[in-house]
Amino acid sequence: MREIFINAENRILIENGCAKTIGALRLDYKNFLVTDSNVYALYSEFLNEYFDKDEIYVLRAGEESKNFSVLERILEKMAQAGLQRNSKLFAVGGGVVGDIAGLSASLYMRGIPYIQIPTTLLAQIDSSVGGKTAIDFLGVKNLIGAFYQPTQTLIDTCFLQTLPDREWKSGFGELIKYGGLNGEIFRLLEQNIDGILNKDLSLLNELIYACIAHKAGVVARDEKEENERKSLNLGHTTGHAIESYFTLSHGESVLYGLALETLTAMRLGVCEKEYGARFLSLVKKVLKSLPYEKIETSNVDEWAKKVKYDKKNRLDKITLVVIKKVNEWTKIELSFDEYVTEMKNSVQSF
Ligand code: GLY
Repeated sequence: MREIFINAENRILIENGCAKTIGALRLDYKNFLVTDSNVYALYSEFLNEYFDKDEIYVLRAGEESKNFSVLERILEKMAQAGLQRNSKLFAVGGGVVGDIAGLSASLYMRGIPYIQIPTTLLAQIDSSVGGKTAIDFLGVKNLIGAFYQPTQTLIDTCFLQTLPDREWKSGFGELIKYGGLNGEIFRLLEQNIDGILNKDLSLLNELIYACIAHKAGVVARDEKEENERKSLNLGHTTGHAIESYFTLSHGESVLYGLALETLTAMRLGVCEKEYGARFLSLVKKVLKSLPYEKIETSNVDEWAKKVKYDKKNRLDKITLVVIKKVNEWTKIELSFDEYVTEMKNSVQSF
């Protein structure tokens, strides 16, 4: 068992089988579970042991569920179940479940405790840690949300065994992002990418721990993303634009974002060429094994418009968070027209 603390109230536990801790964490009176249809289909027997029927909300799996009407239905069901201020909400699922369940917990009675139990690689290494909660709005990812920290996060790698292949590989978007921010994670990825893609559990445990330790440090220093936490958006400006336009998953879109923004940073002389090429070859290795829609120079004008809503933009500038050299990141600011030109050049050379 390994433990990481963001602060005294926020504990992250990493252990195979630790999801059973729900039994010890739940209160005798009124708990609530938010999960999704995929997770519930696989784990209903396990989850029904801990929650009564009226304490369970199963949302339809997929990003489309991150909307106001699902949020309203969760809150309605929480009220009908008679949750009180000290009741606990458990979020068992991937990033979508964590985001909307966390937001529900932050709103109900002005905030009740919640516990994240992420079931996907993406959620285990990234979204379940750090307290970002959100729904999408007006076609823009995560436009409405709050920073609201879970009291506990239980990372149980047993869940990864049942992940569909595409969902599993999507997690590599965030995994490789951490490689771009942390030299030790980059080394682990470069040396072991085949073993990791094949779900070598001991390598995975090592990597999951390293990613969470990295993120926990960043969040402890800059919870509200005023400065260092922006680094966790590496590749995400373009990633979110691609995700809003195509039907690619978050992780797949982030892989594209990492590739296209790294190529831009290399061209602009911001990122060391040799390091950029090594980083790109990791991204390409994962992308190669995925079915994806075509990103071509002819569709850049359309999807690039989505960056105008990015939360990192300042004045009229589009901000990209990019790698510079091992362990170092930086920001590039571009006008919208410059951004479109850079993306066209990156797509062409990809
Ligand atoms: N996923 C980026 C962050 O939590 O800041």
